[in-house]
Amino acid sequence: MSTPTPHIAAKAGEFAKTVLMPGDPLRAKFVADHYLEDAVLVNSVRGINGYTGKYKGKPVSVMASGMGMPSIGIYSYELFHFYDVDNIIRIGTAGSLREDLKIRDVAFAMGACTNSNYAAQFELPGTFAPIASYDLLKKAIEVTEKMGIPYKAGNFLSTDTFYDASKGTMKWAAMGVLCVEMEAAALYMNAARAGKNALAICTISDSLVTGEETTAKERENSFHNMMKIALEIA
Ligand code: HPA
Repeated sequence: MSTPTPHIAAKAGEFAKTVLMPGDPLRAKFVADHYLEDAVLVNSVRGINGYTGKYKGKPVSVMASGMGMPSIGIYSYELFHFYDVDNIIRIGTAGSLREDLKIRDVAFAMGACTNSNYAAQFELPGTFAPIASYDLLKKAIEVTEKMGIPYKAGNFLSTDTFYDASKGTMKWAAMGVLCVEMEAAALYMNAARAGKNALAICTISDSLVTGEETTAKERENSFHNMMKIALEIA
């Protein structure tokens, strides 16, 4: 397929090699407005804002993924395959499944379990284990430690349902899973299939253990650490 695609209006070459992906289009605008120099809007189809600018002189793009695996599945596929993007770094929020992972903490998804059927399309004779790019994860941990930001790295759960009728989400905690979100597994599978790199970094926005939640304002502030980490490795 050529560019533009059905979902992205940008022309070939308008995205940098690294794209940061928050779920929320307004968050993409926030990153472009506050962190990028010379940011240019390259997409706004369906309100999915995408910008390309520079961070410390290096070209970097930021575009929203929307919510859930079908949505990030579409955008990451098109970025990897039609816009020649090499690295996608998700910067999102997640719900903690553990006592020792608190609101506003930063977590890296080494792997992403899922209850989604996304992997079925690859017709593999077994279960695929979606994992982060080792290079991106290593770099992210290096810069995070240098900045003195506390973090955890481990397994995530990418779920298809925010409101889960089975109430099964906490069962993943018994397997050492850190937190729940809705995108990392599909992003990692698309990166694997495309031979590209992906990493999901999340700020904990709520806790399924304590029931605590962050306000929109608190989420905005705690996002800074995660964004700085992502921009440094972009
Ligand atoms: N569940 C799923 N996705 C999420 C959550 C959650 O509790 N918090 C942030 N993203």
